[in-house]
Amino acid sequence: MPTLLDAFELKDLKLKNRIVMPPMCQYSVTNKDGKPNDWHFTHYTSRAIGGVGLIIMEMTDVEPDGRISDFDLGLWSDEQIPAFEKVIKGCQAYGAKVGIQIAHAGRKAEDAPKPVSSTNQRFSDAYKEPHQLSTDEVKEIVKKFEDSFTRAIKAGVDTIEIHAAHGYLIHQFQSPLTNKRDDQYGQDLSLFGVEIIQAARRVMPESMPLIMRISAVEYAENGYDLDYSIDLAQRYIEAGVDMFHVSSGGESESGPSHSGPGYQLDFAKELKAALQVPTIAVGRLEDPKLCDEAIREKKADLVAVGRGMLRNPYWANEASLALGGKPLTPRPLAAGYSI
Ligand SMILES: Cc1cc2nc3c(=O)[nH]c(=O)nc-3n(C[C@H](O)[C@H](O)[C@H](O)COP(=O)(O)O)c2cc1C
Repeated sequence: MPTLLDAFELKDLKLKNRIVMPPMCQYSVTNKDGKPNDWHFTHYTSRAIGGVGLIIMEMTDVEPDGRISDFDLGLWSDEQIPAFEKVIKGCQAYGAKVGIQIAHAGRKAEDAPKPVSSTNQRFSDAYKEPHQLSTDEVKEIVKKFEDSFTRAIKAGVDTIEIHAAHGYLIHQFQSPLTNKRDDQYGQDLSLFGVEIIQAARRVMPESMPLIMRISAVEYAENGYDLDYSIDLAQRYIEAGVDMFHVSSGGESESGPSHSGPGYQLDFAKELKAALQVPTIAVGRLEDPKLCDEAIREKKADLVAVGRGMLRNPYWANEASLALGGKPLTPRPLAAGYSI
């Protein structure tokens, strides 16, 4: 029976434990250049030193106007690659594996003069009215995803996560609430996501696993349910996804009725059981015992801890100690555990 502290292997991705740092925007890019800077280096390497098995770097966008804000990361130019490589190598040096979340914010791009989307409906009154992408423009965005995947691989990632959750562009295409198009992308709501997955698979080594983050349910009235997202996930598996990172919502300002410990865990469990696919659970999983149980009871294969790791970069190390395991920090810190 696997535990939180056991190793995990998927294709060539070998993790020393099952603890994940999920993507979390830092809104800390300087000069709007999309490049990680000293803040990002310190932020990510601290969590690597803290013992995390897998770090998934924050939402990194495929074009400047695909960012939530001008202070988000981007991989729209080869010139950005070295700055990512520095952070990735810095984390790998401490035994963490590193993924990156590749994304487009679509109509939720707040600083874009004219955001783009599957629709011309705005997200809310506080947001700009988006331009509804033409069929040819959709294909151009797929190509931009492909180029960003190539750059991520050049920067040395161990895995890639596609962001199809939280109401961003791929989610906008896959949701009946925001995709009423009459072209091929409206006849098949999974097509945009499928083409992006196929683009990833074209440029990724076959041995590198592809993760997709999805919103398992929507909270708006008439939003999609878990059965719908299981069908979507099946299409995405057929296109080349190896593991799902299971979140929820973001398509509207509505949220879950409760967001206490493990509030999204059952979605990961149901998706895993229905499709026999590895999952990462996320959402208020800050109690190491709850995380360990989730793994032991096979509700998920990996567990991600977001806000808990913002508060405490050594969350993984402390979880290990709390569960009776060894310190996960590197040798120079060993004296901290001597009597
Ligand atoms: C500051 C912050 C930034 C976030 N940025 C992202 C992001 O870039 N991509 C994403 O998919 N989710 C993002 N999230 C959501 C987290 O990855 C995670 O799913 C959420 O915080 C729930 O997990 P938690 O309860 O462990 O924090 C962000 C969350 C926070 C708090």
